[in-house]
Amino acid sequence: MISRERLTQEFAARFGDDPKLIVRAPGRVNLIGEHTDYNDGFVLPLAIQHAVWIALRPRNDGTVSVISIDFDDSVEFSLSGIVKRDSLWAEYVKGVAWAMREAGLTLRGWEGVIMGDVPMGAGLSSSAAIEVAAARAFAAASDIPWEAARMAKLCQRAENQWIGVNSGIMDQMISAAGVEGRAVLIDCRHLTLEAVPFPAGTAVAILDTATRRELATGSKYNERRQQCDDAARTFGVKALRDLDPARLMREIDRLDPLVARRARHVVTENARTLQAAAAMRAGDADELGALMNASHISMRDDFEISRAELDTMVEIAQAHAACCGARMTGGGFGGCAVALIRADTADSFAADVAAAYRSAAQLVPQIYITQASAGAELV
Ligand code: GLA
Repeated sequence: MISRERLTQEFAARFGDDPKLIVRAPGRVNLIGEHTDYNDGFVLPLAIQHAVWIALRPRNDGTVSVISIDFDDSVEFSLSGIVKRDSLWAEYVKGVAWAMREAGLTLRGWEGVIMGDVPMGAGLSSSAAIEVAAARAFAAASDIPWEAARMAKLCQRAENQWIGVNSGIMDQMISAAGVEGRAVLIDCRHLTLEAVPFPAGTAVAILDTATRRELATGSKYNERRQQCDDAARTFGVKALRDLDPARLMREIDRLDPLVARRARHVVTENARTLQAAAAMRAGDADELGALMNASHISMRDDFEISRAELDTMVEIAQAHAACCGARMTGGGFGGCAVALIRADTADSFAADVAAAYRSAAQLVPQIYITQASAGAELV
């Protein structure tokens, strides 16, 4: 685990003094509500303990100078002339500076170190964590108040327009506004939040299949977005959030069969996400688990974003006595599944599932039992 002490040491080793500020922004795992965010719908993620940290001290010359400990790399740029280069991690920092300035915010420069422990490409939002950590750093250095939803939108703008990935708002929003010990129901149209408690005696397990999205994933994500937009247009609604499940089922023949399945996933997933939040409020772990299981089937068969290893992992997890429910999580096509499990048997769950997956898939998984952490913060 990365700590305040570790960051202070890394900063002091390079800048010869203690940092003035330390910020942290977490990755996330989504309990339920997948590919609903860009349909103006509902998601139910939690911020995780894995995070990106920055230790910094402000500068007065409008320059940003950052050393990445993980990539053994550094970047320096002037806030008055930010240009794209190809060093990927640094583009997230630059893109956020660009988006904040475009929004009219006056930024101060800073120098510092950045490091993180969010597994990359695993569907745990390592890129949103860098963006939100950068935004938190610029806000702290420039005395800009932390308005989570506003900052999340600016980070999403950086992701969409600077990095060129057309993602929704979920990842940046939960990294900016996560709540310790809670999942957060996010209404992605109004950007309103409700922190919901976990059923007593449960824990969240992140099951990394050791598979990663392939290069073509971006185009598959965009293709899904397009299909959702097509379905909304056919029904004359602003977004699929506005399509009542009963109406979709009655009039499903209006859609091309493939688009119909895509729409059915989104519309039923929105309903499941609201039901899942209700189950959490009621402390009903079995109901929440059943909704997660149903979500997996919908992603596998209707939205078609799973893969064999994710299905294998989910089936192994679901078959374990400690498991209330499991599903693949995140954008899909590789990465992680998430399971709601009974906390008192978390260790045996992790060991048993890892062993079974290893022999079934011939891959070495990582299993993390995670607590819900706070969103972006000064530490
Ligand atoms: C990725 C995107 C999110 C969301 C999920 C799917 O993580 O960044 O905006 O669309 O996929 O739920």
